[in-house]
Amino acid sequence: APDGLALTPPMGWSSWNKFADKIDDATIRAIADAMVSTGLRDAGYTYVNIDDGWQGVRGADGQIRPNAKFPDMKALADYVHARGLKFGLYSSPGPRTCAGYEGSYGHVRQDAQTFADWGVDYLKYDLCSGEYFYADADTVQRSYYEMGAALRATGRPIVYSLCEYGRFRVGSWGRAVGGHLWRTTGDITDDYATMARIGFEKNGNPSDAGPGEWNDPDMLEIGNGGMSEAAYRSHMTLWAMSAAPLMMGHDVRTTSAAAKRLLEDRAVIAIDQDARGVQGKPVRKQGTSEIWLKPLAGGAYAIAVFNRADAPVTLTLRPADIGLDSFTAMRDVWKGGALDPQVSTFTVPANDVVLLHVRG
Ligand code: GLA
Repeated sequence: APDGLALTPPMGWSSWNKFADKIDDATIRAIADAMVSTGLRDAGYTYVNIDDGWQGVRGADGQIRPNAKFPDMKALADYVHARGLKFGLYSSPGPRTCAGYEGSYGHVRQDAQTFADWGVDYLKYDLCSGEYFYADADTVQRSYYEMGAALRATGRPIVYSLCEYGRFRVGSWGRAVGGHLWRTTGDITDDYATMARIGFEKNGNPSDAGPGEWNDPDMLEIGNGGMSEAAYRSHMTLWAMSAAPLMMGHDVRTTSAAAKRLLEDRAVIAIDQDARGVQGKPVRKQGTSEIWLKPLAGGAYAIAVFNRADAPVTLTLRPADIGLDSFTAMRDVWKGGALDPQVSTFTVPANDVVLLHVRG
């Protein structure tokens, strides 16, 4: 939405991938503390988002109450804010959320106001209770519009994250209903095959993305342990090349050194957060290899050479791959050194990637 929010892809953490609905106030506080102590906050990860599972029942006044695991949502938001972080919550347009908790159906304006009063900075609005909505795109769009308008009416700047899985061509109407990001796929899981299917093949139409409006290929799995380090490097690189929201999904309290290196790399984050806001895309595919291009502010390019195979691959990158006559400068982004721009043949290990910063 053109309101000055989310001018670069939102970065933060969400409870779902690691904890599902096994979350409580104390865990969220400890995660917020760990965002600071690990340096992840200072690397740009700002949002601490509680996904599904915080909701209790409504009071006689219709107001949503958190469940017993969240005794005081306003106090929790204050705690998160006091650490220089922002606070996110989750709801659904239907009567029930995806995990069966109370949704916002029939209480849209009331819930938006409650969220604003608690200090919410980010709302994920997830299309569940399917029987009410899946039948027609107009109803889906209208229910997303309703919440978008209700959030705006509170006067509080709240990033609005739509989650209809790309079922109703959200890329073509997400911005019009006030959305800042929208899921383009089903749920990610912590394995290379699923991550790669989403990241390489289902990352949304690049022309739908730009400052304030982002395709969302779902949250990160880095740090959850199901993929090799090479695969996690590909995951982080693909999301950065795609100008995707970077929402971590691991237990930040026990971030490994390897996960920290991948998540905190300033040069990689800078590619994701580039001010031009162009979503990169593949420019050459060869067997199981893919060369991706993301034009950056200031005329440079990020180029990623991905190897989707389970064995190493050797590939030559040509200036013509990205429409240039020659490369004049080249840096290896993950390894951090200058490369000879005339010699661009790379051997990429299984499921790994070489990420380059190039000038032509
Ligand atoms: C859906 C979403 C997930 C998560 C769960 C919560 O599956 O895609 O990201 O929010 O619902 O129930």
